[in-house]
Amino acid sequence: MNLKGKTILITGGGSGIGLEAAKQFLQIGAKVIITGRNQDKLDAARKAYPTLITIQSDAGNKDDAYSLFDKVSQLGGIDILYNNAGVGVPPKNLGIADDAHLKGAAYEMEVNYLGVIRLNNLFMEMLKSRDESAIINTTSILAMVPSLVEATYSASKSALAFYTKSLREHLKILRANVKVFELLPPLVDTDMVADRDDKKISAEQLVKGLIAGLERDQYTIRVGDSKLIYIFSRFFPKFSFGLINPNKIISTLKP
Ligand SMILES: NC(=O)c1ccc[n+]([C@@H]2O[C@H](COP(=O)([O-])OP(=O)(O)OC[C@H]3O[C@@H](n4cnc5c(N)ncnc54)[C@H](OP(=O)(O)O)[C@@H]3O)[C@@H](O)[C@H]2O)c1
Repeated sequence: MNLKGKTILITGGGSGIGLEAAKQFLQIGAKVIITGRNQDKLDAARKAYPTLITIQSDAGNKDDAYSLFDKVSQLGGIDILYNNAGVGVPPKNLGIADDAHLKGAAYEMEVNYLGVIRLNNLFMEMLKSRDESAIINTTSILAMVPSLVEATYSASKSALAFYTKSLREHLKILRANVKVFELLPPLVDTDMVADRDDKKISAEQLVKGLIAGLERDQYTIRVGDSKLIYIFSRFFPKFSFGLINPNKIISTLKP
């Protein structure tokens, strides 16, 4: 699809992958609106890129979603809804059977899964009315193979991946003009995984892969190790499970 001249709404665009995407979309000649919970982060982003439009909004909050829809409509609407905001709540107790673990899982589902469906539903008619429009849902390498220490996060992304595939096909049956993309990042060097010392790619590299995929209408966009894990998970599932959960991780789970 053609990105130049499009208006793109990026949830969670105040830092990390979302902010890098905002920067690269602006460079292409798109108009970009970003959201986030923290106003200071949004102000800093606006200072760095003065043409950015920022709206404070929590992707897991129903009232915020309605208010975001109203504000974006008043601004003239969007062509692309990029669901980037996502959270991971690592269990404090790796034995996992406690209330905090369940609470974290519910929060992950609220932001990573239900929040995405809510925004897609709200914006669907607007997107359908555009000549060329798209939804981008951000899943993860962990939507293909689960991480034992991020089990509920992996499950939330896996739920989002199934929903994304179904939504794409459903919209095709309805002959709706809305393209549905899935971005599967590998480990990316952002605040979210700052405490991990494993191999990471930069947000810049990931977003370059995203833009190349969008421009080619490649609906499932795997970048870096996500490509490798896709192949291994299909033909060598045990091996790919071991790659995502190496011995150094397994040993942290032993009593
Ligand atoms: N980094 C990785 O290795 C990796 C790998 C696979 C997939 N992903 C996915 O890629 C996406 C972006 O990740 P990232 O690494 O850039 O994360 P990040 O560094 O934690 O940044 C997330 C951004 O989203 C915002 N945000 C978080 N929760 C939000 C909410 N409920 N509503 C609105 N904004 C929210 C945060 O700002 P505020 O705190 O101001 O809201 C922040 O600006 C996520 O969906 C993540 O799951 C990341």
